[in-house]
Amino acid sequence: MENKRSSFSNTLGFVLAAAGSAVGLGNLWRFPYLAAKYGGGIFILVYLILAVTLGFTLMITEIAIGRRTGLSAINAFQKLDKRFGIIGYLACAASFIITPYYCVIGGWVVKYLITFLTGNVVAAAEEEYYNGFITGSAEPILWFGVFVLFTAVVVMIGVEKGIERASCVLMPVLIVLTVAIALYCVTRPGAMEGVKYYLLPDFSRFSATTVLAAMGQLFYSMSLAMGTMITYGSYMKKEDNLEKSVRQIELFDTALAILAGFMIVPSVFVFSGGNEEALGKGPSLMFVTMPKVFENMKFGSIIGTVFFLLVLFAALTSSISLMETNVSIVCDKWGWSRKRTTALTTVYVLIMGAVISLGYGSLNFIRILGMGLLDFFDFISNSILMPVIGILTCISIGFFIKPQVVYDEVEINGEFKVKRFYTVMLKWIAPVCLILIVLFAVAEAAGWIQV
Ligand code: PFF
Repeated sequence: MENKRSSFSNTLGFVLAAAGSAVGLGNLWRFPYLAAKYGGGIFILVYLILAVTLGFTLMITEIAIGRRTGLSAINAFQKLDKRFGIIGYLACAASFIITPYYCVIGGWVVKYLITFLTGNVVAAAEEEYYNGFITGSAEPILWFGVFVLFTAVVVMIGVEKGIERASCVLMPVLIVLTVAIALYCVTRPGAMEGVKYYLLPDFSRFSATTVLAAMGQLFYSMSLAMGTMITYGSYMKKEDNLEKSVRQIELFDTALAILAGFMIVPSVFVFSGGNEEALGKGPSLMFVTMPKVFENMKFGSIIGTVFFLLVLFAALTSSISLMETNVSIVCDKWGWSRKRTTALTTVYVLIMGAVISLGYGSLNFIRILGMGLLDFFDFISNSILMPVIGILTCISIGFFIKPQVVYDEVEINGEFKVKRFYTVMLKWIAPVCLILIVLFAVAEAAGWIQV
């Protein structure tokens, strides 16, 4: 085992790396389509409330566990209480499941970037382009491989020189690009209708489904409940302020998600006049609807290229954190070197991801619970494993290991401003909300309820 653990060099390095993990496809691809689908403003309102309550509680707990123990998920839980090592194993399972399919989607982003770079905007805007591409064999796997190799190189280089440096360059660029494209999009003629839809809450569209969809999104977006924040916490220096850093990461993540909506929702209005069908496109909103929007826009091919470049940067900093989570768990647990672990993890990701990618093409006869491979893995990790890990984390820290562990970590750098609120959230409100998410996901998968 390494005796000296690497660390981020300062608070800014830590915050940017953790924000880099949080800001990803979840913000740019998933948040806008969920907001569009669940009634715009009302979804955002619910999401914001959840971010400062549930999101804050879980994030501060995970980072504190990591910094306290100086270890990644499995060893960290085992060190705090032998009985709860299982939570670490579940987190490890979740991150090993998510990494390959996240990189498959990363590969799609590379493909769209190349398409726009080579000026094929008209082709990209065709309905069949997306389907033709993802159902292919060699091409999606090729771009997926390129994406995985980028990710692996940064992880191989290590925490400070690889991850921190990449985040410190990519994150500021990401903000500038997002703000610029969002500004451009909301100032197009006809975009204001979309801005209104996106921002003004329509309370008649409020339902339990809105809350549950927002909660699921929160987990995904803030990289919670899969050991990532524990790993990053373990690289955080003791002198950095934990409570403040968590607020900054959350602010970063939420602001970028909302800005992404400003790029996408009003653009869809400009293009479609806001019809329900275009807004409810779901996952393909970014790959099918957005190219149509760019095709109809002045300077569309340039804006489109910049847009996909931005999505690529965001996806890369997240996939780096996913792979780092896998690597750090294996290095801590079995004492392997970073290089060897990264190489083996890369081989695993390449094989698993290739199979998942083929799940849209030659392997599309494989259906599990009625879902294709990618959807199935997404379902198992996001809707089942992550909430279960969240519940176990809250209960183990709240009642057995005791929240004092978290208080102590936070109080190294001053007062824990919202200690009472945190405790009530951790012990009672968060577990109840998370149990609801799991029940809801199971009921939906079993077909008892329809969303
Ligand atoms: N938070 C990332 C996103 O929003 O795209 C996805 C993610 C990264 C989830 C890392 C989980 C994780 F551990």
